[in-house]
Amino acid sequence: MTTPDAPTLAPRPLLRTKGRNIIAVASGKGGVGKTWFAITLSHVLARSGQKVLLFDGDLGLANVDIQLGLMPKADLGSVFSGRMTLNQATVGFGAGGFDVIAGRSGSGTLANIPLSRLQMLGEDLVMLAGSYDRVVVDLGAGVEKPVRAFAQSAGTILVVTTDEPTSLTDAYAFIKVTQLERPGCDLRVIVNMANSTREGERIYNTLLKACEGFLKISPPLAGVIRRDLKVREAIRNQIPIMIRSPHTEAAADVEAIVERLVRTR
Ligand SMILES: Nc1ncnc2c1ncn2[C@@H]1O[C@H](COP(=O)(O)OP(=O)(O)OP(=O)(O)O)[C@@H](O)[C@H]1O
Ligand SMILES: [Mg+2]
Repeated sequence: MTTPDAPTLAPRPLLRTKGRNIIAVASGKGGVGKTWFAITLSHVLARSGQKVLLFDGDLGLANVDIQLGLMPKADLGSVFSGRMTLNQATVGFGAGGFDVIAGRSGSGTLANIPLSRLQMLGEDLVMLAGSYDRVVVDLGAGVEKPVRAFAQSAGTILVVTTDEPTSLTDAYAFIKVTQLERPGCDLRVIVNMANSTREGERIYNTLLKACEGFLKISPPLAGVIRRDLKVREAIRNQIPIMIRSPHTEAAADVEAIVERLVRTR
């Protein structure tokens, strides 16, 4: 006897294998630099010769297109309304050499999409990921299921934190719920806006201790990104940092992260 699939977010084993090239960028707390990092990560991966898709998975306050200074003709709103497939909503970001699927900027309507619909979209994304070397997904803030929906199929989840205690506790909360749902998944930590690499490592160790003590897992450090005034400047001018200030400290830190990521994946 067959039973209809319940609208669950648990990934099917096949899809999980297929989504191995998807990297989700998460945080828990908002404003820690997820979107900036997801863009820069996509840019650096594309520069290394990979075919990259950047997917704006922030259903509440999508702003990948804003940081890129892009006015996309299509976005996820068109996909949810059934006017377009995910593939058709893909636009090229020529200056960065990667593709983008934009969210719906300045509108909160996508935040109310049912979970089952999000899961279907996640499955479409896994299929689309088959045409790319890497897919980078920028998630929204928070730890609720709709926020995590697109992380379900990701082969790697990068959790971004800063040195703020609230950011650390929210990153821990995100790791905890993800680990409960997907034990053994590839979770790694990024410390952003650190005053120095060493301080970033210290912050990571605080988070690591909590994970080891309470969750019995040891998510590795994907890397530290230093606080850098050029980041704010690039965002304010809506020009990606890899174009505006490619040699600045924060850009170099992301390049180092990508180098390690590519080596260990
Ligand atoms: N390495 C950095 N150095 C200095 N400032 C940074 C750095 N990374 C991010 N920022 C600052 O943090 C702000 C928030 O970045 P961003 O919008 O990417 O965060 P977010 O986590 O995506 O936020 P949200 O949760 O609202 O989506 C940026 O406007 C930028 O000024
Ligand atoms: Mg964001």
